Amino acid sequence: MPIIAVANQKGGCGKTTTAVNLSASLAINKNKVLLVDFDPQAHTTFGLSISTDVSIYNVLSEFAEKRLNLKDIIINIEQNFDIVTSNILLSTLEQELANQISRESRLKEILEPIKNEYDYIIIDCPPNLGILTINAIRSCDMVIIPVEASRFSIEGLDKLIEIINLIQERLNCKINWRILLTIFDSRLKHSFEMWQKIKDKFKDKLFDTVIHINVKLKEAQNEGRHILEYDRYSRGAKDYLSLAREIMMIFGKPLMEKMEKQMQEIIKEKLPQLKEVIFSLDMPQAREVYLVGDFNNWKLEQTSLMESKEGRWTKKLTLAPGSYRYRFVVDGNWIEDPYNLNKVPNPFGQMDSLLEIT
Ligand SMILES: Nc1ncnc2c1ncn2[C@@H]1O[C@H](COP(=O)(O)OP(=O)(O)OP(=O)(O)O)[C@@H](O)[C@H]1O
Ligand SMILES: [Mg+2]
Repeated sequence: MPIIAVANQKGGCGKTTTAVNLSASLAINKNKVLLVDFDPQAHTTFGLSISTDVSIYNVLSEFAEKRLNLKDIIINIEQNFDIVTSNILLSTLEQELANQISRESRLKEILEPIKNEYDYIIIDCPPNLGILTINAIRSCDMVIIPVEASRFSIEGLDKLIEIINLIQERLNCKINWRILLTIFDSRLKHSFEMWQKIKDKFKDKLFDTVIHINVKLKEAQNEGRHILEYDRYSRGAKDYLSLAREIMMIFGKPLMEKMEKQMQEIIKEKLPQLKEVIFSLDMPQAREVYLVGDFNNWKLEQTSLMESKEGRWTKKLTLAPGSYRYRFVVDGNWIEDPYNLNKVPNPFGQMDSLLEIT
């Protein structure tokens, strides 16, 4: 399922704030999320108050004292919300990977086996265009590029986009990217000028959601919590929930396809056991006949109405093996099936017809 890297070589533009709070907002919307801290500064790890002595370094480095699998270091922090931590040792990986083959695909390789277990994987990148960021871009389906609206921060964007395009061409993969305006101060004229400038240049590559400056986001990070936990009614929480909704709209289709595929597999598995049964009743004078039983909770509703053709009332059902009690309701009168001799008494002192499917 979609992997999203949050990247921009510019420091302090809101990458970590976005990675953490977008993940929390997706998780609260019933998506299973894995947040990967891929920055040696480990702000995501600290920003969620996680302390552990192992990190993604132990999975990727050949020199790690303790070599581990990705699954061994995944920590569940909340319902639907898992995290892979980072630490300062990750900074040594740059040099270590320098001489290795396929060095830009190491992260992709380790994420591949667990990709389908998550609805979204979010990667927080370091503030540079080194091999760690390249690995994150190489493994993702979309790059979110946070751009701070209150500073002049467009320069450098072209370089990042050029790298994304280069990775797409060279490695023959499809990577979408979008710009997210962050730390937007609506009191400043400059913020609106920046917004307009980015809109003119990047058009539909800009998220509709804008992340406003909100002190609660800073406080939450300092307290080691995400914004939905810290203050779910804050402006910051609303903005990140809105971003999550936008992301879910963009990736909604693949998710629907996944669910449809799962559904088809279930149907394929169960289908050979299901049997088609036609119930019928000759009652030319009747105006309305229902078929009710265990299979429809004895409900008199539109779907239990039988069809009439030349006085014969019929209803086709697809049922799994088992035994079913049923009756007909002819113009309000509950009757047994006159053609079925298999009957059992019911609690009302009458008889229900019994159908057994083996
Ligand atoms: N919308 C916002 N409103 C107020 N403060 C914000 C907002 N977004 C981020 N900040 C604050 O700005 C600082 C930098 O944000 P953040 O750590 O998310 O940036 P970053 O791009 O991950 O930085 P780095 O490049 O160092 O990894 C943090 O103190 C954070 O709390
Ligand atoms: Mg950061």
